[in-house]
Order: sequence, then structure tokens, then C-alpha cells
Amino acid sequence: MIQHSRRALLQTAALLTVPLPNSVTATPAWSAPQKAQPADDLAPRERMSLDFGWRFALGHATEVHRDFDFGLDQKTFAKQGANVATAAALDFDDSTWQPVNLPHDWVIDLPFAKNDYFIPPANPEDGDSAAGHGYKAVGRKFPENSIGWYRKVFTLTKADEAKRLTIEFDGIFRDATIIFNGYILTRHDSGYCPVTVDITNFINVDGPNVLVVRADATLGEGWFYEGGGIYRHVWLVKTARTYIDQWGVCVRADTSGKLSIDTDVTNATDSDRQLQVVSTVMDQDGKVVTQLTGATDVKARKGATLSQTGVLSPVRLWSLDDPHRYTVLTELKDGDTVIDTCISRFGVRDVRFDAKEGFFLNGQGMKIKGTNNHQDHAGVGVAIPDAMQYWRVKQLKDMGANTWRCSHNPPTTELLDACDELGMMVIDETRMMTSTPTGLEQLETLIRRDRNHPSIILWSIGNEETAQQGTERGLKIAMDMRRLVKSLDPIRPVTAAMNHYMGHGITPALDVMGFNYHESDIEPFRKLYPDMPIVGTETASAVSTRGEYVRDDVKGYVRAYDLDAPSYAKTAEAWWTLYNSKPYLSGGLVWTGFDYRGEPTPFNRWPEISSHFGILDTCGFPKDIYYYYKSWWQSEPVMHLFPHWNWEGQEGQDIAVWVHSNLDAVELFVNGKSAGQKTVVKDRHLEWSVPYAPGSITAYGYRNGKVVMKQTRKTAGLAYSVTLTADRSSFSADGRDVIMLKAEVFDRAGVPVPRADNLIHFDVDGPARIIGVGNGNPTSHEADHATSRMAFNGLAQAILQGQHKAAGTVTVIARSNGLVSGRVTLKAMDVPLPAEI
Ligand code: GAL
Repeated sequence: MIQHSRRALLQTAALLTVPLPNSVTATPAWSAPQKAQPADDLAPRERMSLDFGWRFALGHATEVHRDFDFGLDQKTFAKQGANVATAAALDFDDSTWQPVNLPHDWVIDLPFAKNDYFIPPANPEDGDSAAGHGYKAVGRKFPENSIGWYRKVFTLTKADEAKRLTIEFDGIFRDATIIFNGYILTRHDSGYCPVTVDITNFINVDGPNVLVVRADATLGEGWFYEGGGIYRHVWLVKTARTYIDQWGVCVRADTSGKLSIDTDVTNATDSDRQLQVVSTVMDQDGKVVTQLTGATDVKARKGATLSQTGVLSPVRLWSLDDPHRYTVLTELKDGDTVIDTCISRFGVRDVRFDAKEGFFLNGQGMKIKGTNNHQDHAGVGVAIPDAMQYWRVKQLKDMGANTWRCSHNPPTTELLDACDELGMMVIDETRMMTSTPTGLEQLETLIRRDRNHPSIILWSIGNEETAQQGTERGLKIAMDMRRLVKSLDPIRPVTAAMNHYMGHGITPALDVMGFNYHESDIEPFRKLYPDMPIVGTETASAVSTRGEYVRDDVKGYVRAYDLDAPSYAKTAEAWWTLYNSKPYLSGGLVWTGFDYRGEPTPFNRWPEISSHFGILDTCGFPKDIYYYYKSWWQSEPVMHLFPHWNWEGQEGQDIAVWVHSNLDAVELFVNGKSAGQKTVVKDRHLEWSVPYAPGSITAYGYRNGKVVMKQTRKTAGLAYSVTLTADRSSFSADGRDVIMLKAEVFDRAGVPVPRADNLIHFDVDGPARIIGVGNGNPTSHEADHATSRMAFNGLAQAILQGQHKAAGTVTVIARSNGLVSGRVTLKAMDVPLPAEI
């Protein structure tokens, strides 16, 4: 996959639509000078995927022999190979280990473990701490489940001896020990920050190389499900010994077209070099819009930054409707020879927060209509395939959301790529609010890695830092973090999500005050800080279970009407009407877009394993509240009538019927008889109370006096068939792409069966497999890695992944005992594959 000619590189840069490589590592390999320092190889860099062909086994957190003797010998950290661990030795036999591809989350496969020692707290909102993490059998009580070992064996070539080789891990949960050819290269505890190791000095070119990772998920970093393992991508990067640093290209441009590009390069050879940097900027159509050339001297074993300035004319802005991005091809040259290249993407947009007028993107005032999200989905846990990141962002974009907060940790790059590409703004958040070297290093990594992404509008330096947000000490820490942010990115504002002491403690370190709930503190805050803009970093935390309309304390379901929220929280309607009525509030971000594992408020106890906060459930199936937001967050006409009309045994009893709509008025009919017309009030729902009788309810939606929409809910009969639908009709045969499949149960007349819980089997014929299943039921203890799943309130999901290099036709059948099956036929398409090992 090396493109030797410049023309080919330009073409590649213009054509690439997949997440792009940035460049190589920032950590210089200050190895002792070698006797014969190899000359720089002439080929530009290679960035190869290391996602395929791993072996995985569980180790043990407390029994050393069950942990491949890791730590058995005191020599462990000073000596190499089998001294580190038996599994670290080159000749270790891993044939009994499980073959896995990345991304991988082993915690998903662990059993659920009820916390038998749980004593209910005085305040039920505090709940069972095991519930917070989703009750998976991981952590201190489960040493046999908490250590994951990964091995990958690969070969290199003689030519690689002349190069600089690094391995980039995008994310390992957590506390990773990375061992290469028997050497511990690093220990890295963050479960969310990337880490790069330099393997240049440690490679074998005459035999196999073994890369081993031990991940220790005994301790966690959050209060929600966090998974375990190498759950993001891994890359092998080969460059010359004089190279562009990892995330070394920093591009800034303003709306007038003023452009600056800073390129960090390192000369890891023993001779001084005179280097040129050529930066070729292309628009989204691949047209070269400008080219900047500069030269710099770089001393032996030193780094340098080359700054270039130019103009983009005319400038095409990145916006929510036209998320245009430019591409920069950076070529590092020695004389006429290109010694390194890399490709970066950026967008041009103007972001302004104003204390009186709210938020502006490219001069256009708009509310931030956002959601908070953890990195967790049904079927796969935290090992989210790239295509699913795009799918998830798209579900929220379609609803009218314009911002995504990465709560509460650095996301994977592909999530940011999806937001850039689809037009979704981002609040990017570091994991730790601290000014320790590790904390600042994590923050620096986040900003260096992410600062070219046009989607990012705010850096968040913390979330609900209860112990320090209101203190002088907290302020000192926050000020150091702010200084670091500003030195790396003077443009974007800094926020922190505070839930107390707004206007005190860390406030002076912020540009934008982040309010988590506590709306009654807004006016007092404005008196203290009249010039500081406000965003609702967390709002709502309203709870609802998809398809449930009566609270069930035993099963742990909450009503899907917009009625329930914990004491600190607010319903959707309550927070949005407030935020939308005050021009000085920039808008807010709902807790959460998707349900996630853990935090099963309001019950917070077994058997609940996932949250009810989502606008969509853990599968991304919309709850009724989705249509409230869709009504008021975008301009297409919306009318959504609920609940279902199957209330057997409740004949004659009153049922609350709601409509979310942005039309002018809605009239409800029950079995053909009008129950009255109601006028829609901005940002509100409509509701009726009508006695149940089997048959149907119908809503007629009016705009300008005319009926423009009609929706009916009919009483369904017995389950008769399953239908299967796919989000697309074809996918890439690259072993990575996924298709989201939805199975739905209908009666003989084609009416959805609202409480159907039939067990559905997904059979695949062709080069693909089901990698996970789900149904959005917060009380389901069924396996995620399976090929069957019970429907929950009529729906189930399966995630289909194609095989590597296996194009063809794939048929999936959704089968359930006694029901007519559903099927889809999909095309697995040949695509150019990324370079891979
Ligand atoms: C917030 C917290 C979130 C989540 C949420 C649930 O206080 O920042 O992570 O726990 O509450 O309502």
C-alpha cells in the first residue's frame, strides 16, 4: 500500500473517505547511537492495521501461576522474555487461546453477578454500586475474570531494519503492560488515552515478532460499564528515522481564509538535516486549493516545528448541513527526496459562545441540542466497530441533535471522524481533572490528537469534581489544565461540567460554565459572572423504558411517558422549555442519547443491568421521547402517537394517550369517535385520557387548517411473523464493516405486536456472521455474543459483520418458532483494504 509517487499520494489523499492516518509517534526513540546508523529509507511511511489475528486468554489477578507467571520472579521488570511471563516468550504455545480480532471487549462475555452483599442505602438513588457497572463479574471480587492477555505474532522484513517502527494503541481498558519480543515497552494505566510504543530497537527481521498485551480491568475509572481489553484499533507504523511526529500536523484556519500549519518533525539520525515541508491543501472534491512550502534545519537527534501560513480563497466552511473538510498532504523532503508523508483533515468554522446571546456557529445563532454518550452498545460492549460509530451519530443527527459530549473520557478517533463527517459538534472531555504529570499528559494527548477536528467546539477538563470543584485547590489544578489547553489550542474555549459551586472554586479557569442539572443555580451564577456564557453540559436524566407505559418495580421498568426523573433531574419537556426560553443559555446536552450498561436509575438494583436515561435504548431503537426531541429540534413535520393499543383486561379504564408533534393541532379518535382536538404549544406534548376498548386510536395532524399527517395504533392480535430490515443493502467485505439488523414481530394483519417477546434466531448464509445481539431490555441477562435473542416489546437487534476479503451475497433469516420468518439479502462488496498485518 505504499504510494511512491506524489501524484498517487495526492490521489489517495483526495479519495480517502475512511478515517485517515495522521502520522507517527511523538515519543522520540533516543536509543544509544548504533555503530552503523542506517541511512534514511526513501519510502514514505506505511501505517498498517494490526486488528486481525490475535489470541486471547484470561489470566488471574491474584494467582501468579494462573497469570502466566507474570510477576513470579523478582526479575520480571528488569529481564526479558519468559522472565516477564511465560506468555511473553516467543516460543510460548498460545494455540489453546481464543482467536480474536480487534476491537475486542472480554467483559461482555463474563456472566452477570448479583451483589449478594448489597444493603439498600437510605437514599434509593444511591443504589447498589455493582449496579452502576452493570453487574458483570469483573473487578476485585473476580480476579479470575479481570486480567486479559493478548498475543499477536507477525513478521517484518529486512528492509524494516532501516526504519523507525512504532505501534499505536488507540485504547486498551486498562492498566496495560505492553511487551514486545519479551521486553516490557511500557505500562499505561489509562483506559481511554491512546499509547504508542517504539519497537525500533527490539525487532526481529529473521524470525517472528511477538506482541503481548496484559490488560488489567480489576480497577475502573468510571461509575458505569467500562468493558475490558484492546477495544480500539492497533496500528504498526513504519517511517524513516527522520519523520513527522504523531499528531504532528496542527492546522488552523479562520473564516477569512487565513491558514496556518505547524508541522512537528524529528530527526532521530546522527546527522544534522536540512528539510523541507510541502503542505498541499485539497478541498473535499480533491482539488488542490493551496500549497505551502518551507524549510528548516533540524539538528541530529532533535525535533523542530515548521510554521507555514497561507490563505484559503474562497473558503468553504464546515457546518452542520455542509460538513466540508479539507485534506492536507504533508510531505517531508530532503532535497528532492520525500522521506515521510502524512495526511490530516481539518475544517473551517467559527464558534462563539456569548453570555447574553448564547451560541453561534459561523455567525448563526443556534441552541446546542446535544446528548451525552458513553461508548457502549448492545451486542458489542465498548468494542464498537467504526461503522457503528457512524450509525449511532446518525441516529441522533436524524433526530435533530447537533452536539455530542464524550462523557466522561477521550473518545476513539473514529467517533470524532463520524461527527466531523456527519455534521455533529462535539464536547471533548478528558478523563481526569488533575494537574499531576499523568493528568496533564492525558490532557495534552487528547488535545494534540483531536485539535484538527472541526466538530470539536469545547474542551472539557472535568465532570462533577465534587471534592475539588468548589475549592481553592481545585482552582489551582484547573488553572494549570487551562494553561496547558491554551498553549496547545488558544482558540477553543474551556469548560467543565459542574454540579455545585458554579461561580466559585474552579470557575475562573473556565471560558464557558457547564451546568449539570441544578437549573435553580443559573440566575445566582449570572449575578456573579454576568459575562460568562453557560451551556447545560448535562440536562434531563429523565428515565423511560422503551415500550413500557406502567411502572413495574419488580421487573424494573419505568413509564415511557415523559414523567419520571430523579430528584436532581428534569423531564425532557421541563429542561428544554427552560433552556429554549432563555436566549443567554447556549443550550444543553441530554443525559443520555443512548441507554448504556450500568446506572439503572431509578431502581439501581438487581436485576437491572442497564440505564433508562437514553432517548434511544441500548440498541438504538427510539423510545417515544425521541419524537419529542425530533419535534422541537428539527423542522420536518413530526407526529408520534403512543402508547400501543393492547390493554387487555383494562377495558373501560382510562389510558393516557400522548402525542409528540410540531404541527399546529392534533385530533384524536378512539375507535372512530373524536376525543377532541388540541392545539400544539411550542416545546410541549399533547395528552388525552380515554377509556380503553380494543380497536384503534388515530391521530390526525393539522397544519394551516389541513390534515397533513395521520397515525393509527391498532390492537394487535397474536404474533404471526417476524420482519427483518437492514440499515443498508450492501457492505464492505473487509471484516470490519457492520450492518445493523432490526427484527420486528407482527400479527397476521401486519400490526406490530407491542409486547412480543418471542425468541428470534438469526441464521446467516454467506460470508458474514452475527457479532452481537440485543433488545434494549434493561433487565435482560441474555448473552450479547449469540445468534438469538428474545424480542423486547416487539424488537430485537443483530449486528452483522462481513468476512475479510470475502465478497458475495449474504442472506440473513430471522426465525422464531411458529412464526413466519423474515429475511434480508445483502451484498458484501470488494473494497480496497487498508494495509494490514
Ligand atoms: C451525573 C453524572 C453522569 C451520570 C448522571 C446520571 O451526575 O455526571 O455520569 O451518572 O449523573 O443521572
